[in-house]
Amino acid sequence: MRILNIVGARPNFMKIAPLHRAFSNIPTVYSQILHTGQHYDQKMSDIFFNQLGLPKPHFHLGVGGGSHAYQKAHVMLKFEEVLKKEKPDLILVVGDVNATAACSIVAVKMGIPTAHVEAGLRSKDRTMPEEINRIITDSICDYLFVTEQSGMVNLAKEGVKDEKVFFVGHVMIDSLVNFREKASKLDLNEVAMNPLNQEKIGSLSIKEKGYILSTMHRPANVDNKTGLRNILQIFRDATRHLPVVFAIHPRTSNNLKKFGLYEDLTSIPRLILLEPQGYLQFLKLMDNARLIITDSGGIQEETTFLQVPCITFRDTTERPVTVELGTNFLMKDLDPVSVKNQLEKILQGEAKQGVIPPLWDGRASERIANILVEQLARY
Ligand code: UD1
Repeated sequence: MRILNIVGARPNFMKIAPLHRAFSNIPTVYSQILHTGQHYDQKMSDIFFNQLGLPKPHFHLGVGGGSHAYQKAHVMLKFEEVLKKEKPDLILVVGDVNATAACSIVAVKMGIPTAHVEAGLRSKDRTMPEEINRIITDSICDYLFVTEQSGMVNLAKEGVKDEKVFFVGHVMIDSLVNFREKASKLDLNEVAMNPLNQEKIGSLSIKEKGYILSTMHRPANVDNKTGLRNILQIFRDATRHLPVVFAIHPRTSNNLKKFGLYEDLTSIPRLILLEPQGYLQFLKLMDNARLIITDSGGIQEETTFLQVPCITFRDTTERPVTVELGTNFLMKDLDPVSVKNQLEKILQGEAKQGVIPPLWDGRASERIANILVEQLARY
């Protein structure tokens, strides 16, 4: 049985790694990786393959960046050629990036069974590019693997048949469980060594639970000058309490330069500006942070598992379990005053510890692999 696993962008790599491992442990399965090339540089892609023990992709479409229409159209054309030649028995897509939607459309149209891992999540915000990708993918795939209860409810409301849907836990947490110990052995100050703004801030050491960690990359927050200005103000306020470690995404970095705000960022005292981090380095940084401020999807879940308080700059979340059971707190807009108040409350000890959601136990990939082998054997 030949399974083709699709990756495109950074958040896919830590999800496919444990699945590829689980498939490879089954003698009757031949598992391969196809990379669409949406994320292409060393720091956004290659380092993850090395650290997560993923093989070099068997197929690389090399599509690169561009508008969503450009990315999807090029991925679809190139992917169709691969499928015509290779004829795998199953395509597996994860998450909600452009590759997820583009590849599932092509595979389903060619009559190849297709599985979506991390199905059913809905932010109900259709201005988010990922929400459209989620809706498209779930509405056409044959097997839907769900991470949290809200996903089951959403799919049922959308009329998806029960027999297609499986509540299995979360493959991203499988990676976290698998690599946490290895990450813990890294030295925190070595990770934060060589910041991009070293000349401005000099040497500044950080200690366990003695810093705030941040990432920001969502178009709604970083594609406009007002959003970026607010982020800078939030950092200025936060650094008055603790050093802030900011691992900058290329989108954010490009936009800060475009709007002439990059220098302002690098000049904030006690802000340690880092390049995009490897999986192990970022896990180390998350596990030891006092608080995380972010607009990421996955970090909301990783912090819930690690029981680290998290403020997420989003109106809604497609991952409500992180708020209901976990340590996540949503802030509706980037208003520096309300963020400052919330941050102070958390630093004064007003944070919930949360509980780990059901089935987030490091074994989701194994469950998915077993279900798929059983399902495909019926044909
Ligand atoms: C994509 C995903 C988002 C995910 C994020 C994680 C979609 C719709 N969005 O957004 O869900 O949270 O990845 O990072 O799929 N760039 C580089 N080097 C790279 C990759 C990108 O410099 O290796 C630059 C691109 O040229 C572009 C910018 O970063 O200017 C944004 O990349 P893009 O792939 O459009 O989307 P992300 O914002 O990364």
